[in-house]
Amino acid sequence: MNILQGGMSFVSNEGLPDEYQWFSDQIAGHHPSVIKNGKREIGLLKIPGSCEILKPKQDASRGEKEVALYKLLLSSSSSSPSPTEQNPPSSLLTTSSDELRNGVRMEDVDGLRELTAKFHRMQTLFVDGEDREFLVLEDVTSDYKRPAILDLKMGQVTYDPLATPAKIEKESVKYPPQATMGLRILGYRIHRGDDNVEVRDKDWGKSFDETNVQTGLCEFFSARDAPHLENVLKEALDKLKDIKAYFETQKSFLFFASSLLFVYEADKTLPINLKIVMIDFSHAFTSNGLRDEGYLFGIQNLEKYLKSML
Ligand SMILES: Nc1ncnc2c1ncn2[C@@H]1O[C@H](COP(=O)(O)OP(=O)(O)O)[C@@H](O)[C@H]1O
Ligand SMILES: [Mg+2]
Repeated sequence: MNILQGGMSFVSNEGLPDEYQWFSDQIAGHHPSVIKNGKREIGLLKIPGSCEILKPKQDASRGEKEVALYKLLLSSSSSSPSPTEQNPPSSLLTTSSDELRNGVRMEDVDGLRELTAKFHRMQTLFVDGEDREFLVLEDVTSDYKRPAILDLKMGQVTYDPLATPAKIEKESVKYPPQATMGLRILGYRIHRGDDNVEVRDKDWGKSFDETNVQTGLCEFFSARDAPHLENVLKEALDKLKDIKAYFETQKSFLFFASSLLFVYEADKTLPINLKIVMIDFSHAFTSNGLRDEGYLFGIQNLEKYLKSML
């Protein structure tokens, strides 16, 4: 039996196409355990055993933005001719996200591709009585025996430049330390044994601020025995360095309410294999030559926290 500590509970797979299940290792985001206006939210889906997950395209501009960004990443792999800096192929940006088209540097696109989950394609599935669109993404947790997974929401504000005053107010009061730390813990899942998953949710994450966030992070990075903690932290710092280097130079994108997903192997007989992957681009904007200082601030603080734990 799963040990669910304030986490999301089991949700029936009824209403899903054959073979598909709700992705059980989802940490945050839209989730079928949440009922809004009498309907359950659509979360991530998975065919058990596959290396892919399906993320529902979100409503309105949020979904368009995320799809446009992933398609932009798909468009310019080094094997295909690169679009020019100012003008990526418009067919790939058939969305409302004209802002993506302007001022994006291809080197920043290439850099971002290295830091995200691989995007494969779009797919339509009949879920809960409706045809819905999904992004088919690499499941970055699939090649672990016992994954330890953490979601950190990055940046100093979680509302985007188009937010209404009401949305700004709502987001600002949710978790004030977001502004001072540039990050927030959304929760983690650690597979401790075959039928033993330790879950921490966003309310647990909100119990931390800059005075004690190391305690929460330490809990996540200590899934292996004590002598391994140092190595887990060293791998995390090593991978974080690449992300920091990207954010120090990239001047194409601003990410709001976007996350860093950490995954490592909790089974002590196997290599740690720590990964950090950028996810959730439903509030990604082009920055027209500016760095994303809020996100970078969060990375710098995270680096400090991890170093102080060593
Ligand atoms: N590529 C991925 N591989 C594995 N898990 C993922 C991946 N993308 C998202 N997730 C999981 O799903 C959760 C929600 O994803 P997210 O993109 O933030 O959705 P939402 O737009 O609903 O907030 C994340 O916290 C993470 O646990
Ligand atoms: Mg999210």
